[in-house]
Formats: sequence, C-alpha cells, structure tokens
Amino acid sequence: MLIGKTNGVKGSEITPPDVYLRRREFLLGAAAMGLLPAIASPAQAARLQAAKSQYTTDEKITLLDDITAYNNFYEFGTDKTDPAANAHTLTTTPWTVKIDGLVDKPADYALEDILKGITLEERVYRMRCVEGWSMVIPWVGFPLAEFLKRVAPQSSARYVAFETLKRPSEMPGQRGILQPLPWPYVEGLRLDEAMHPLTILAVGLYGETLPNQNGAPLRLVVPWKYGFKSIKSIVRISLVDKEPPTSWNLQNKNEYGFYSNVNPKVDHPRWSQATERRIGEGGLFSKRRETLMFNGYGDQVASLYSKQDLTADF
Ligand code: MTE
Repeated sequence: MLIGKTNGVKGSEITPPDVYLRRREFLLGAAAMGLLPAIASPAQAARLQAAKSQYTTDEKITLLDDITAYNNFYEFGTDKTDPAANAHTLTTTPWTVKIDGLVDKPADYALEDILKGITLEERVYRMRCVEGWSMVIPWVGFPLAEFLKRVAPQSSARYVAFETLKRPSEMPGQRGILQPLPWPYVEGLRLDEAMHPLTILAVGLYGETLPNQNGAPLRLVVPWKYGFKSIKSIVRISLVDKEPPTSWNLQNKNEYGFYSNVNPKVDHPRWSQATERRIGEGGLFSKRRETLMFNGYGDQVASLYSKQDLTADF
C-alpha cells in the first residue's frame, strides 16, 4: 500500500532508509507528473508534496521501526513500548486546534485549514531525549512561524503555550489514580524560539502520515531542545505575555527548566548530559557519542541566548 499509517509495523515490514529514499523520490516524481490518484486527507497529501528542506542533516536516518516503537508519550503509558501498543485508540480525525490569547485572529482551526496553502518540507533532524538517547528523524512539516504569522500575534505576545489533547477515554495513561504528570501535557517556547526557522509543526515522518505514537496528527519539533519540548497531538496554541507552565517543570522544577536546551555542560541533577546513545547503533553496549551544544544546531540558535547564563536558565 502506498499510503498508510505506520502504527504497529513489524520488523519484517520495515523499509530500510535507502529503499525508502528511492521510493520517496519516485513518489515525488510521480506526483509531479500527475500520475497519482487524488489524495484524501491533507496529511497524506502532505507526504507527496514534501520537498527536501535546506534544514536537513545527512546523518544516517534511524530505522522507522525504532522511531515508531521506542517512544515517550505518557498519555499512553510510561514504558517506551506503551505508545506503540496503545496509541491506536486515539481518534485523529476530525482534529481542531484552538488558537487564542494575544492574536488578532483567534479561532478554532480545522487541521485541513491549517495546512491549506502550506508547503510541506522534509527535514531530517537530530533529536536528543533528556534521558540520554538520540535519533535522526525525517519529519514532514512546516515552520511554526508560517502559521503564527497567519494568526497575527499582537505586539504584547512574548511566549507561545501549547497544549496536548486530554481525552482519558482514548488515552489510557490519563486514567487511574496515580498519574505520572498533570494533564493536559503543556509546553512553551519564547516567541523568538517559536519563530525560529528550525522550529516546525510536523504532520508526518518517513514520508507517511504521523503515526499516533509520534504525536498525530500535529506535533511540535524543536531540534535544539530536549525531546520533551516537542509536544505531541496539539489541540491548543496560545500567545501569552508571561512564561507559560510546562509539564515536566510542574512535575519537578529542579530537574526540568523552561528552556531545556541540549547542553552537554549542564548536567541533569541525577545524570550527566555529556554523552548520548544513538538508537539503532549496537544497543546498550555501543560507544556513546558526545552530545553537541544545542544538539549541533548552535550556529543557527546560539544567538538567541547570547545574553543568558545557561546554567541558570537551564
Ligand atoms: N508530548 C506529550 N503530549 N506527552 C508526552 O509524554 N513526551 C515527550 C515529547 N512529547 C511527550 C510529548 C518526550 S519526553 C519525548 S523524548 C518526545 O516526545 C518523544 O518523541 P518521539 O516519541 O516522537 O520520539
């Protein structure tokens, strides 16, 4: 099948990156020549339109199997394998995103309307989780700035707050007495971080519609920050004038700061952040890689923080 969800894919069904890349070239060419049938959903259309972005690393891409089977998405459980096992229960159509706060055009936007007129790009980004592992993920998405400009932030807006769906009937991690986090999951960026060209909203990965466990149908991707800043399954984006609360900071403010920039020199109170394990590189006993300042995106983003002490603003 050309178009489909990647939930629950088995190892035997995995497309190796080089085959995937060739297939994608073919599909993009076929789409350009009008050889493909009309496409139903915007996220599917997304895939066929996505052009390779200049903001792309040529590092080896992590296998689709790992990207979709080793996840953090606590709404579906706290084990790495829980999201792949449980996230299929989430209904992602229809999907509405509320835009409110300090904007001239507040509204409930249908995902289709958000994607109207937007050019999707494929961006291969290094992603670094706060727990010490990393992946290289080919996202399909578009700059958050493009969408924010459309909703017209007011001059008093300083931060952007994001909220994930709260729907216990479809999110088993939100049921029960002991909850690992307060719900809904919330995150935030300073406005200049949100407007930075590296910051994207993703609707797909590996050329496919975003699998539920990776944050379908719309998630944030901020590649110079620890993975938890990249909030999944977004239902609300608010422009605000004060630093918004963030889930992990609410849970433990000594361990998780608002900025959460990848920084090998600022350790987590319980472990070093100097090195990382690249998922897919020989398991637990493989040589660890040095973690790069701002996850290797320093040339692009260091200037955002030139006036800050990053040990205080961690
Ligand atoms: N978003 C929500 N709503 N809930 C979560 O638990 N986990 C975060 C982030 N976004 C999380 C979330 C963490 S800790 C990481 S490392 C990344 O999602 C993982 O994204 P991935 O599963 O696509 O690799």
